[in-house]
Amino acid sequence: MTALFKRTGLRNLALANRIVISPMCQYSAHNGEATDWHMIHLGHLALSGAGLMIIEATAVEPDGRITPSDLGLWDDATENALKPALAAVRRHSGIGVAIQLAHAGRKASCDVPWAGGHQIAPEEAGGWQTWSASNLPYKDGENPPVALDRTGLNRVRDAFVAAAERADRLGIDAIELHAAHGYLLHQFLSPLSNTRDDKYGGSLENRMRFPLEVFDAIRAVFPVEKPIGVRVSATDWVEGGWDIEQTLVFAEALKARDVDWVDVSSGGLSPHQTISSVPGYQVPFAEAVKAKGLTTFAVGLITKPQHAEDIIASGKADFVALARGILYDPRWPWKAAVELGAEIDGPPQYWRAKPYGVDKLFRASRPMELLKEEEQPLVGEER
Ligand SMILES: Cc1cc2nc3c(=O)[nH]c(=O)nc-3n(C[C@H](O)[C@H](O)[C@H](O)COP(=O)(O)O)c2cc1C
Repeated sequence: MTALFKRTGLRNLALANRIVISPMCQYSAHNGEATDWHMIHLGHLALSGAGLMIIEATAVEPDGRITPSDLGLWDDATENALKPALAAVRRHSGIGVAIQLAHAGRKASCDVPWAGGHQIAPEEAGGWQTWSASNLPYKDGENPPVALDRTGLNRVRDAFVAAAERADRLGIDAIELHAAHGYLLHQFLSPLSNTRDDKYGGSLENRMRFPLEVFDAIRAVFPVEKPIGVRVSATDWVEGGWDIEQTLVFAEALKARDVDWVDVSSGGLSPHQTISSVPGYQVPFAEAVKAKGLTTFAVGLITKPQHAEDIIASGKADFVALARGILYDPRWPWKAAVELGAEIDGPPQYWRAKPYGVDKLFRASRPMELLKEEEQPLVGEER
């Protein structure tokens, strides 16, 4: 039995293996509403055989979008727009579905990456005034954000709560709170972006306060049987910024709150970061967080099945999350299963794709009750 393909679970959520589809912004929504792109995109990834799929960074209020085309979850229209894709995923796949709830803070109001990704000034079409911990722009010369006052902090916290309630209503299994990549909650954590002199700035305890308040607030409304994880940037990769030591303190505060996983990424806070990305470059950060007794996701240039297997088998992380690798090859988990001698959940329509010479590859990916009787004998005894 491979470690990567060992069944597992988070709270009541059963997962077929330790492969996670990392959240990936698609910039393909209209007014925050999912489109047929999401049906295609989430649909094909749901057939990948991964254990858990995390839906892209989803803005909890319109001002929290990175671009005008970001996915949102802030009103009935955005909630309803996600229903068709989720229903199709549920009908045809047993994959666990999480959603990443996010607020872009000072990195909001940009054009989409393929149009350059530049900030759009508030007075320009498609732009708006951004918010942050302090009034420091991401890049010199950009329109500075407005520092959130008490009313603003409450508004943003309540927007996360309302989105968590909507996610639950949609039947989503889990939430990942986005506190990484230089977005709003990371802007509170890092001393480079947070220069407040109230109880939300200054000491590490103060800088962690707002992200932890948001975590507590969504935990209070999201059903206790459903997991909530947090994505962090373990370091800003800038001298004097957020670093692994502070991340470990933050992780312990999350552990005290029964966080279900920490998804350990890095960077994104400052344009002055210097990162040398090599395969698995963020794994040591996940390992350090795991050593504090937390469940961790390792992410970042994990592209080879044996590498993923070794990360789990050696106890460096509990899950591996893939982004570019699984976009490039949505059948990555199938191929990993062949390489590592495991079985994979797959739709019966595709079972004939089992490569020549491979003994057994597929298990049913839909709940048994959805399978027609004549399909059932092929299922095996796993479920
Ligand atoms: C197209 C694309 C969109 C992304 N969008 C998000 C996102 O919505 N939220 C997030 O936390 N990270 C996002 N990321 C980062 C990935 O989740 C992942 O952490 C990063 O790409 C490193 O993993 P990889 O080497 O497997 O691609 C995105 C990456 C890509 C390639």
